[in-house]
Amino acid sequence: MNDLDSLVSQAHTEFAAAADANALDVAKSRYLGKSGAITVQLKSLGQLAPEERKAAGALINAAKSKIEQALEARREAIRDAQLAEQLAAESLDVTLPGRGNGKGGLHPVSRTIERIEALFRSIGFEVADGPEIETDFFNFTALNTPENHPARSMHDTFYLEGDADVLLRTHTSPVQIRTMQAHAARHAGADHMPEIRIIVPGRVFRVDSDATHSPMFHQMEGLWVGEHVSFADLKGVIADFLRKFFETDDLQVRFRPSFFPFTEPSAEIDVGFMHGDMKGHWLEIGGCGMVHPNVLRHGGIDPEKYTGFAFGMGSDRLTMLRYGINDLRLFFENDLRFLSQFR
Ligand code: DAH
Repeated sequence: MNDLDSLVSQAHTEFAAAADANALDVAKSRYLGKSGAITVQLKSLGQLAPEERKAAGALINAAKSKIEQALEARREAIRDAQLAEQLAAESLDVTLPGRGNGKGGLHPVSRTIERIEALFRSIGFEVADGPEIETDFFNFTALNTPENHPARSMHDTFYLEGDADVLLRTHTSPVQIRTMQAHAARHAGADHMPEIRIIVPGRVFRVDSDATHSPMFHQMEGLWVGEHVSFADLKGVIADFLRKFFETDDLQVRFRPSFFPFTEPSAEIDVGFMHGDMKGHWLEIGGCGMVHPNVLRHGGIDPEKYTGFAFGMGSDRLTMLRYGINDLRLFFENDLRFLSQFR
């Protein structure tokens, strides 16, 4: 059947001319589609005499399968060509030399935190942490903070929608309670409980934003609870830490009487530099005091038997002082021109 042979070779030519999958589909339908040439032939078999039908059918089917093979081959060729084109377009020259290998580095606040941790570890403190989403109980109530305290207002604290009891912690102090409770539970019934000595670096949140305040900032809480812990210990530990942190003995530390609900007595910690740019200036870097008996009680610790001191310092503040940075917002803008100075 010359007719079929020429159909097959015509299909070959048309398939070869199809530049992409769409064109190929169009070409395919001319042969194999509902009213395609091959389909029409198959339908016309019914008009043949029964004895001719079988042979004719075989020939048509042979032609059909040749066309299908040609179609598949072309389909594959188009796919290969596309892939090759894509590979060429996206080619990557792995022999190209790199464009400098700038090293990353720690954020200045992370450096401060690591430094504080190392200094306190050297005098037997452990690093503790707690959740940034806190309950009203741990953030305020257990810390002896009265119901009407301004820190509890909507203006100062981020409350979570739909739950007046859940908030973003405003300080790292709630970890004092969590740590004491866990410690007390671990040593329940024991005559002598080992000391608690922790520092707690962490993120805290307040509704506040300007050059020296950010809605998120970093604090470092400290807590030392034991049988004979005194205000003298507090002064010694903090003054010693600050001199080591700033790498100078040329530093004055002042404890200014103050008030915090969770300590009694309470003090503000100021540092004064005797030389350099900061000479003669006093700067407040945190608060401290002897842990209030109510706070110890909330932590499950007997205030008749144990005493403790606590402090909270601003890690961002300490970083600003150490490196002479004047705008807190620089820490959170992720500007590499600023950050790469600390590599
Ligand atoms: N939590 C206080 C604040 O955020 C800081 C502070 C003051 C922490 C005195 C203490 C402390 O542990 O004893 O302002």
